[in-house]
Amino acid sequence: MVNHVADLSAVLQVEDLSVRYADGVDALRGVSLTLRPAERVGLIGPNGAGKTTLMLAIMNAVRFNGRITVDAIEVARKTEHEARSRCGMIFQEAEDHLFMPTLLDDAAFGPLNQGCGPDEAQRRALAAIAQAGLEGLEQRSAHHLSGGQKRAAALASVLSMQVKLLLLDEPGANLDARGRCRLIEILDHRPEAMLLATHDLPMVGRLCPRVIILDEGRIVADGPSAELLADITLLSAHGLAG
Ligand SMILES: Nc1ncnc2c1ncn2[C@@H]1O[C@H](COP(=O)(O)OP(=O)(O)O)[C@@H](O)[C@H]1O
Ligand SMILES: [Mg+2]
Repeated sequence: MVNHVADLSAVLQVEDLSVRYADGVDALRGVSLTLRPAERVGLIGPNGAGKTTLMLAIMNAVRFNGRITVDAIEVARKTEHEARSRCGMIFQEAEDHLFMPTLLDDAAFGPLNQGCGPDEAQRRALAAIAQAGLEGLEQRSAHHLSGGQKRAAALASVLSMQVKLLLLDEPGANLDARGRCRLIEILDHRPEAMLLATHDLPMVGRLCPRVIILDEGRIVADGPSAELLADITLLSAHGLAG
């Protein structure tokens, strides 16, 4: 049943969300979830489960049915700008975020787009770059960064927008052990609410007290990580355990 009562204290509210792609694929089928401010939730599920689609819908980047609010702002065409300034998605391909001549420009792009003046945008960009552990690399081009640094740079380009909700799509993919540890360290210090899509169950265990399992476009479990990540039968049934 669809619950239309707005939860004003939620940072994210998704109600009865469905997405059907143009070719008829039902990527999401009646997904509902709520995130509290600062809450971190691991989003796990096999390839094709709908994890990326869920994040794209929250960003209003795919057509959907149902209702999504970010920080009590409904995600819709006319409120897109307001909703977007409250949440940021880190794409699976870090390069998608990095297109300016320098890292500083990349990190200032979001705040400028939000309407900040150049000084404020630069101040935020410098702070975000430092928070992402890239101090000293401000004038570097993204093309000259390592894989781990690119991931951190993508994060900086979103942190500078001072959003309330981070949508992280497989942020640990292609990182070596050191890069992965640094990323976990950085994320662990973030105050934003977080939806973390990953196949890295230990990363979820470290960062997220709550986990949602998505399979074939539906939520099949939503509960404490300590419980769900220890349930080998449940994980195996959804292609998540060896
Ligand atoms: N642009 C698209 N057009 C058509 N189908 C798509 C598109 N993007 C994803 N899909 C399909 O939607 C389903 C969910 O995909 P996705 O959200 O990428 O899952 P996940 O991120 O969990 O791997 C899959 O069946 C996938 O093939
Ligand atoms: Mg995906």
